[in-house]
Amino acid sequence: MLKLDQIHKTYMTPQGPLRVLENVSLTLAPGQSLALMGESGSGKSTLLHLAAGLDLPDQGHIALAGQNLASLAEPARAKLRREQLGLVFQQFHLVPSLSVIDNLRLQARLAKREDADWSAHLIERLGLEGLEKRYPEQLSGGQQQRLAIGRALALRPALLLADEPTGNLDETTADEVLELLLSLVHETQCALLIVTHSLQVAAPLDRCLRLRHGRLLDAAL
Ligand SMILES: Nc1ncnc2c1ncn2[C@@H]1O[C@H](COP(=O)(O)OP(=O)(O)OP(=O)(O)O)[C@@H](O)[C@H]1O
Ligand SMILES: [Mg+2]
Repeated sequence: MLKLDQIHKTYMTPQGPLRVLENVSLTLAPGQSLALMGESGSGKSTLLHLAAGLDLPDQGHIALAGQNLASLAEPARAKLRREQLGLVFQQFHLVPSLSVIDNLRLQARLAKREDADWSAHLIERLGLEGLEKRYPEQLSGGQQQRLAIGRALALRPALLLADEPTGNLDETTADEVLELLLSLVHETQCALLIVTHSLQVAAPLDRCLRLRHGRLLDAAL
């Protein structure tokens, strides 16, 4: 589903080059779940951006759904992202001018893979029934993130990439939202790569890896 092969990534900064990822390899099979941990600044978001084809590595290869990202031009990468990937970030990134239901359907609509029954089921599972016509600013933080999760899953992606999806929520809400995310991932049977600081989140997943000094290590929980 996702394969990173000997990835290197260095950022140019005013202080000089900053090596963030060194020789990072990982494989995620269809339906597998993986937690990515590591200290702030260790390169977790960088790795996720590379996996999503939002940025390219300096060295190494990344294959998403069997396609080599470096061999694709940006429009083709965008199409692949749209059709295969669900993305959830710490900031919800909802479209403020679209209603709840239109936000939920947006990606599926762009990919021409709308499924009204699945959307309705998601709205129910996300506890957003009755709120379909509201706008994001009229929702609580937890509701907004549940909607962002629904949007990412509306087209039944093969892979969900989640970057600290509950980092902006209070502890109780975060726990509820995470539980819902994991349960929906299970239901959708998509692969999951989630960046998290929570051992509780990481423990039930198939694997847990930790980034440290640019290298990827097996994390002992
Ligand atoms: N576009 C950029 N240009 C220069 N440096 C960057 C850029 N993006 C990230 N960095 C630096 O690369 C390092 C890794 O950043 P990254 O965002 O991947 O860390 P992270 O593990 O996601 O951290 P956090 O847990 O705080 O989200 C950091 O030192 C950061 O300052
Ligand atoms: Mg980050």
